[in-house]
Amino acid sequence: MAILEDIQSIYAEAENVLNSVANEEELDNQKNLFIGKKGKLTNILKVMGSLSVEEKKTLGKEANETQKKIEELVQNVRTKLKNEFYEVTLKQEFFDVLKPVKLSDKRGSIHPVSQIQAEVEAIFTSLGFSIMDGPEVETDENNFEALNFTGDHPARDTQDTFYTTDGKLLRTHTSAIQVRALRNLKPPFRIIAPGRVFRYEEVDASHETTFYQVEGMVVGKDISIAHLIYTMETLLSEIFKEKVKTRLRPGYFPFVEPGFELDIQCLVCKGKGCSVCKHSGWLELLPCGLVHPQVLEYGGLDSKEWTGFAFGLGLDRLVMMRYGIHDIRYLHSGNLRFLKQFPA
Ligand code: PHE
Repeated sequence: MAILEDIQSIYAEAENVLNSVANEEELDNQKNLFIGKKGKLTNILKVMGSLSVEEKKTLGKEANETQKKIEELVQNVRTKLKNEFYEVTLKQEFFDVLKPVKLSDKRGSIHPVSQIQAEVEAIFTSLGFSIMDGPEVETDENNFEALNFTGDHPARDTQDTFYTTDGKLLRTHTSAIQVRALRNLKPPFRIIAPGRVFRYEEVDASHETTFYQVEGMVVGKDISIAHLIYTMETLLSEIFKEKVKTRLRPGYFPFVEPGFELDIQCLVCKGKGCSVCKHSGWLELLPCGLVHPQVLEYGGLDSKEWTGFAFGLGLDRLVMMRYGIHDIRYLHSGNLRFLKQFPA
């Protein structure tokens, strides 16, 4: 029977063709040439109408089996192609994670503010302080109210503070973390709290809308100004790697009483007067003071039993002094030529 032979030869041809396709797309196209709607096998079945019942039976069976065999063949070829593709991709994308690489000078570096923050943290942890954190978006209570800022204190003015639409604010100082410490820690304790702060300010060489501070707080029995000065001097001589002279001036902050501005003798001119210290011989560096009794009470402590000191260290200012940088805007500029000067 000629048709029977035709069917058999279709399979032989399909076997040849399908086994040599290069990818799945070709496979699908070729498959249709045999068993698609207009494929060779389908076309043959169309002429079966003129055949006898017996012939139809034989041919029908043969055609069905062939169709099945071709489908199986397609399936096998597809699996084979998929595996090959996988192998090739694996080889191409092979990536030796242990292969030594040559380090280029395109590596990033740690920002000078982060470097000095790490130093400050190391100094204070060696003195038995622990490090505390707090959120940048704060409540008015933590940033102002519990720090004894009365309702109309000028620092609460919208000139200085960024408010969020849901009634919170971007903390204007890390002193907000003092409030969290008082509320959450059991005295006696010593903490520092580094962090980013925000102020609504006109930007110039010495003012930015965001900068970094480290808050410090010690709460215990009979804490005095002597403890405060000793701690500050230890910090400063560690940071500047030399003994630094300090002086205290009165300073006003609602959450400390008495409050001070701690100045250091200018390291550039040793107090003689130069452009860095504006010819005064001194640099204003560290606001500090004894914790106001009202703040201790707000924090849930009995101010007759507990005392403490607090200070706020400006990290940007410290970096600027150490390296003689005259414009704070460099620190937040993301300028690579600037940052490359502080590799670490
Ligand atoms: N939080 C104050 C400021 O940012 C600084 C300060 C901290 C003053 C701790 C006294 C004690 O201006």
